[in-house]
Amino acid sequence: MLRLTDVSKSYEPGKRAVDGITLEVKAGEIFGFLGPNGAGKTTTIKMIVGILRPDEGRIEVNGHDLAKDPVAAKKQMGYVPDESNLWEKITGAEYLNFVADVYGVPGPERASRAKELLDIFEMTEAVSDPIGSYSRGMRQKIATIASLLHRPRLWILDEPMMGLDPRSSYLMKVMMRSHADQGGAVFFSTHVLEVAERLCDRVGIIHQGKLRVVGTVGEIKGLFAKKEDETLEEVFLKLTEVTLPKEQLESIAR
Ligand SMILES: Nc1ncnc2c1ncn2[C@@H]1O[C@H](COP(=O)(O)OP(=O)(O)OP(=O)(O)O)[C@@H](O)[C@H]1O
Ligand SMILES: [Mg+2]
Repeated sequence: MLRLTDVSKSYEPGKRAVDGITLEVKAGEIFGFLGPNGAGKTTTIKMIVGILRPDEGRIEVNGHDLAKDPVAAKKQMGYVPDESNLWEKITGAEYLNFVADVYGVPGPERASRAKELLDIFEMTEAVSDPIGSYSRGMRQKIATIASLLHRPRLWILDEPMMGLDPRSSYLMKVMMRSHADQGGAVFFSTHVLEVAERLCDRVGIIHQGKLRVVGTVGEIKGLFAKKEDETLEEVFLKLTEVTLPKEQLESIAR
């Protein structure tokens, strides 16, 4: 469904924000992209959805090469950015209509799909209000709804739980699972390791632009955990090394 081959990107010469990433996400799978701040997650996601162009490497979405056939590749994807800069003055409904126009979702299908998603995310009333009046979580929800209107096969989300209340965050997880179970694929970044551990079929850990490990949480723990009860968090900290010694950090934290 999604294949990255040796993908790299620099914002400034000699410093790779993303450095030779190769990975594959299959249909039916939820893939969690983990890594510390500045690791290269958003940069990778922006390349997948076609906002940034890779310096090197190849991205294929459902068999379509993003560089050669960008329109076909982009039609396969729905994207929820980490921060949505939506227009403030238009209403949620106007925004959804605009997005449906862009993706060419026909009228009747558009109305029923929007209704279904607005109901799920409890946005039916708010959809008539201007986006400028929305809270952070409501913006996240309308962006999420917009990303699913055209029934994309590949759903890409950059830190989707951020800013959501526990109920909405639960809903988001249910939607992600159901998307994958219906034969789609989900690729999302997160800092919440417990979510990754419970929700993802596989995860990848990126650090300083390089993919350090890919696999199921069980496989990764098997490779890197010293003790049986070691959590994904402990393995994550090991793989993305905290620079200060543990004793020093503990004395600061006291
Ligand atoms: N527009 C930009 N111009 C220059 N450098 C950038 C730009 N965007 C990101 N970077 C740099 O690229 C690297 C990767 O950033 P990126 O936003 O991909 O990280 P991230 O893994 O998404 O981090 P976070 O968890 O904080 O969201 C960082 O070193 C960052 O400073
Ligand atoms: Mg980011």
